[in-house]
Amino acid sequence: MGNAVAIIRPEPVIRSILSDLVFGRDTMSGDTIFEEINEAKANLDHIYDKPDPRLYFHELEKLGYTIPGVAKPIFQKLISHLQRQQNDSVHVLDLGCSYGVNAALLKHDLSMPELYEHWGQKTLLEATPGEVVAYDREFFDNLDKHENISVIGLDQAESAVAYALEAGLLDEGLAVNLETGQLPEAATENLALVDLVTSTGCVGYVTEKSFERLLPAMTRSPWIGNFVLRMFPFDSIEEALKDRGYVTEKLEGQTFVQRRFASAEEQEHVLDQLHDLRVDPTDKEVEGHLHAEFYLSRPAKDVVEAPIEQLFLT
Ligand SMILES: C[S@@+](CC[C@H](N)C(=O)[O-])C[C@H]1O[C@@H](n2cnc3c(N)ncnc32)[C@H](O)[C@@H]1O
Repeated sequence: MGNAVAIIRPEPVIRSILSDLVFGRDTMSGDTIFEEINEAKANLDHIYDKPDPRLYFHELEKLGYTIPGVAKPIFQKLISHLQRQQNDSVHVLDLGCSYGVNAALLKHDLSMPELYEHWGQKTLLEATPGEVVAYDREFFDNLDKHENISVIGLDQAESAVAYALEAGLLDEGLAVNLETGQLPEAATENLALVDLVTSTGCVGYVTEKSFERLLPAMTRSPWIGNFVLRMFPFDSIEEALKDRGYVTEKLEGQTFVQRRFASAEEQEHVLDQLHDLRVDPTDKEVEGHLHAEFYLSRPAKDVVEAPIEQLFLT
């Protein structure tokens, strides 16, 4: 892997044929359930696929979007555990990578407030997307590399992935939607190296289908760490991973703030969903923020060697 700068995507016609003929007719799988849950959430689709991250950060700052920042120390712990087991850099696949947010935080040890400040700069207000990309490429190039990691980013948002590659945040980009299409053959070589899968704000958009299509290519049996909003049941993904010899553990006793509710209506709908799932929102969602939980899925033998609590003891 290393320096491949390529967006791999299935040819659109093939993608739509596959989606109609093969994958479009599921009954009550994870995607149907998640679609219903997503109806309660504010729709932010318009900010996900721009040629640079300015609008994304502008809109999400208003909602106090924080999950990549609070996820960072957890991912860092996992990276340092994996690092101890190998001499090579840790190969990360970031699902729903967007503009390379997790890559920026992990590779360069930046924080979410620093990213908000960076993309909110007055001097960038009038810049063209091309100027922002050039500015960012230099900006990230000049920062120290904090972690010895390489990052493959996967997202259906083609422009966001293209930005993250050009800015140097991603080492490889996969602009694919594995909910509706197959994994392109060209992607399998690099996925075979993956040691760690990360995701923030992504489960709910992706279901077990994406994992089922990725797993056969990830032959190193990577650890898989997902931050998942509490109204999205993780069962279907856990089952799909179990079929491949994975054991999933939830980090107990801890939730992670994702963002503020966009409206009283959104909060009310989410509280209804949590009630149906018998999830207690006291001191959490009732106070005005969406909360996520952390699920770590690993090959069974790794879980026996070091249960999740042990990984985060120090
Ligand atoms: C809330 S954003 C999270 C982005 C980033 N991980 C973060 O925390 O800042 C959700 C991301 O999921 C992506 N997404 C939505 N559906 C997807 C799919 N089917 N496959 C891959 N990515 C998808 C969106 O394009 C968007 O970038």
